[in-house]
Amino acid sequence: MRVRSDHAEPIIECQNTTRHDASAAIIVKGITYALASERADRIKHSCDADAAYSHLKSRFQHTQFPGMDCSYTPYREPHHHLSHAASAYYTSPFSESLILVLDGMGPYQENFSISTSLWLGHQDKIEHLESIQERGICFRSIGHYYAAASYYLGFPFHDVSFTMSLASYGHPARYRSAVASLIWPTKDGLFDTDRDFIKFSTHTRFGSDFGWTANEQWLLGQKARYESIFGSMRQPDDAILQRHMDFAAAIQERLEVILAALVGHLRSKASHVTNLCYAGGLALNCVANQRVLADCGFAAVHIQPAASDDGIALGRVLYNAYNTFGVAREPMTLNAYLGPPYSRQDLESAIDSAGDRVVATRLAKHRLLEEVARRIASGEVIAWVQGRSEFGPRALGHRSVLADPRNPLAVKEISRKFKKREWFRPFAPSVLESRLPEYFNVHATMQSPMRFMLAAVTARPAARLAFHGTLHVDGTARVQSVPDDGSIYSLLLLEYWRQTGVPGLLNTSLNMPGSPIVETPSDALETLLVSRLDALVLGPWLIQRRG
Ligand SMILES: [Fe+2]
Repeated sequence: MRVRSDHAEPIIECQNTTRHDASAAIIVKGITYALASERADRIKHSCDADAAYSHLKSRFQHTQFPGMDCSYTPYREPHHHLSHAASAYYTSPFSESLILVLDGMGPYQENFSISTSLWLGHQDKIEHLESIQERGICFRSIGHYYAAASYYLGFPFHDVSFTMSLASYGHPARYRSAVASLIWPTKDGLFDTDRDFIKFSTHTRFGSDFGWTANEQWLLGQKARYESIFGSMRQPDDAILQRHMDFAAAIQERLEVILAALVGHLRSKASHVTNLCYAGGLALNCVANQRVLADCGFAAVHIQPAASDDGIALGRVLYNAYNTFGVAREPMTLNAYLGPPYSRQDLESAIDSAGDRVVATRLAKHRLLEEVARRIASGEVIAWVQGRSEFGPRALGHRSVLADPRNPLAVKEISRKFKKREWFRPFAPSVLESRLPEYFNVHATMQSPMRFMLAAVTARPAARLAFHGTLHVDGTARVQSVPDDGSIYSLLLLEYWRQTGVPGLLNTSLNMPGSPIVETPSDALETLLVSRLDALVLGPWLIQRRG
C-alpha cells in the first residue's frame, strides 16, 4: 500500500488501547506497515501496543532502513471512532463515500463513549454526521448486544465468528420475538437496546475492564428472568443444544435487521453518494455483510481487513498523513499484506536454528509451485508462509495452512494434524477471482470484502464437489477472492487448477489452538515442529520435520 509522501522522516503512530487488540502502524518512504501486537508478543488480543511498535522498529533498524531514527513521535490522536472511519475510508478506492462504524464502544472525550458513528468522506477529509454517545459504558451498542449474546452462549467476547457460525444451524423463529426486545430500531433511524440484558450477561467482563459492579440480588433476578425466556446460560464446556443454535440464529437475524435499518438511515443523509466504507468489530461479521450490504443500494462497499481495534493504528497513521502532514491522498486498491519485511537471510537463519530437527530443500519457483500443488492434491496439509504478513484476523495466503478444498473431511483432517476447531466453524476457500463466478454467487458490490474473506457467499452447484470441504451447512462459504495478479499465491492457485481442475484451495490460518497467527519465520518453524503438518513452505524453502 503506497501513500505518496515527500517526507524523508518516518511518520509513526502507535495505538495504545488498554483493553484489546493493540497495534502499531508506520509509514516509511511512502510505504505503510501495520502490525497487531498479538503477532509480536504471541498473546491473543494483546493490549500492549509497544510490542507491535518495538517489533516494527527492530525490523526497520536491522534490515531495510539501517540507521533510521525510529523514535516514537505521537502526532494528533483522532478519537477511537474517527480512527476506525479513517482506517476504512483512507484505504478505499473512493474519493467520496459514506462511512459506518459499529463496535462495542470506543473512548470519546470527557468520559463519554461512542458505539455507533456515521461519517462522510470526501477527498482527504472526513466529516462527522451522527453518533451514539453515552457517559461511561455504552450500553446502546450493537457490538455489546452481540457480545452479550455470545457470552450467554458461552463464547469468547471478542470473536464474532462463533455465534455467527452457529447461527447457520438454527431456526430463528423460536426466539425471534423475544430477541426483538433485546435490540430494536428507533424512529430517529438508529436503535436502542435492553441494557439489563447486556449488563447481566457481560457483567464479569465489564467488571474487569471498567470496574462496573452489579448487585448480587439484581444479578440473580436478571438470571431468572432471562433464563426463563432463553434457557440457562451455556458454560464454555457445555454441549451445544438445538436451543443454542436457535438463539444464535435469532441473534444473527436481528443484527441484520438493525444493520439494514442503519445503512438505510446513513444512505438517506447523502443519497447521491454511491459508496460505503464500513469499520469496527461488527464489520467482521461476513454473513451480515453479504446479506445486508450486497444489495443495499450502494454501488461498492469497502471494508479493510483489520476492521476491529487492531485497525485503529492504521487509521491514525493515515489520518495524520492526510490531515497533519498534508500528504495528498489518492484513492488506492488495498492489499492486506502490511506486516514488516523479512529478508532471505532471516529465513535462512531461522532454518539454521531448527538444526537437524528439519530437512529443508530450496526449490526454483516453478518447481516449488508444482510440488506444493501436487502434495496438496494428494491430501497433504501444508503451511505456506510468504512475504509480509496479513493485517487483520484472516490469513490470506501469506501465513496460511492449505489443503484440498474437495475433501469433505477437511475439518477433521486439519483438526487431527494441528488445529482443533469447533465442529460448527467452517474453513474457507481461496479462489482465483477470474473463476469465482462459476462456483459462487458474487456481487460486484462486494469485491473489496471478498478480497479479505469478509463476505459469506452462496455456492453454485459446481462448488459442491470442487469446494465441498469449505462449505458451511447453509451452503455458503467465506471466500477469499484472489486477483490473478502474478503474486506467488495466485500462481499456486493457477498451478493447482492446472493439476486438478479446481481453481482454489482450502485456506486457514497458521496458528496453534489459542495462539495468534504466526508472524516471523521462527514462529512458523516452531509451529511445524509442534504440529503434525506435512510440510512448511517458507519463501523458496520446502521444509519437513526429520524422522
Ligand atoms: Fe473499536
